[in-house]
Amino acid sequence: MARAKVYVSRVIPAPALDIIRDVAEMRMWDREDVPPPRDVLLREVADCDGLLSLLTDRIDDELLARAPRLRVVGNMAVGYDNIDVDAATRRGVVVSNTPDVLTETTADFAFALLMAAARRMVEADGFTRAGRWKTWGPLLLAGQDVHHATLGLVGLGRIGSAVAKRAKGFAMTVLYYDPIRRPDLEGSLGIEYRTMDDVLRSSDFISVHVPLTAETRHLIGAEQFRMMKPSAVFINAARGPIVDQAALAEALRSRTIYAAGIDVFEQEPVSPDDPLLALDNVVLAPHIASASIPTRTRMATLAAENIAAVLQGRRPPTPVNPEVLAPRSSG
Ligand code: GLV
Repeated sequence: MARAKVYVSRVIPAPALDIIRDVAEMRMWDREDVPPPRDVLLREVADCDGLLSLLTDRIDDELLARAPRLRVVGNMAVGYDNIDVDAATRRGVVVSNTPDVLTETTADFAFALLMAAARRMVEADGFTRAGRWKTWGPLLLAGQDVHHATLGLVGLGRIGSAVAKRAKGFAMTVLYYDPIRRPDLEGSLGIEYRTMDDVLRSSDFISVHVPLTAETRHLIGAEQFRMMKPSAVFINAARGPIVDQAALAEALRSRTIYAAGIDVFEQEPVSPDDPLLALDNVVLAPHIASASIPTRTRMATLAAENIAAVLQGRRPPTPVNPEVLAPRSSG
């Protein structure tokens, strides 16, 4: 039988490539800095049985239609809003993501953004390097306290819960809103359930941890920023389009809120002309919350393990549409 073919849409850590090479003939877009152009991706998937994709690849019905042999898309991310999962399911294509392996690393980074924005770390670094430091000043670069403050989590999935654990180490009160109330976690994490509006109004820090879906697009906009305290610090390490970015920039510019820490943007990469880039009360990062070397390596190997499993007729570890795997009825 001919060997299966897998396309890998970026240079990814070598251990993942080894997993794929063991089970298939592999081709790869050999750049790390940019994704394959759409026409290249469409051409490459035409004869593939498996695709290892990144969140920068749009996997839609057009692509799936061009890939009649495709059996599995292993997305190297926990989020899979770049994939039309319904279309994949209709076509019998397994889609997998990389949950769990990035939870703690991503929570670390969300908390780092929170601390950096509260304590003005990036401004302080620029100030010191620029030789602007003349003397110790009573309110020089004074920011907001993190310890004993109130953290409001919008979304209490794996990453939100991991951020709550960190907050408890800083003696913070933690409130959360999630469409699914979690009394079990309220007890074990020592956190309180509130309505979304109450979380926004009562918190000193607000951190978003929901997936991007039709329901969560622009979940946080001008109205929500107006509900927040003028001292509030807003964190987004989830997905950019959950937040109305123009409204965020305006809330920061007008000091409707105090500061923000932002890892994700409505358009990525963010435009150099975006108003956010002109503001000093926001700490910005280029979508790197899960970017520790061990975690990115594990994400890559997990994506590869999913592909290998499907191609070898085994159950993949982390499918997002497991219904595709259900045994077909004989009728
Ligand atoms: C990164 O943003 C991911 O979804 O893994």
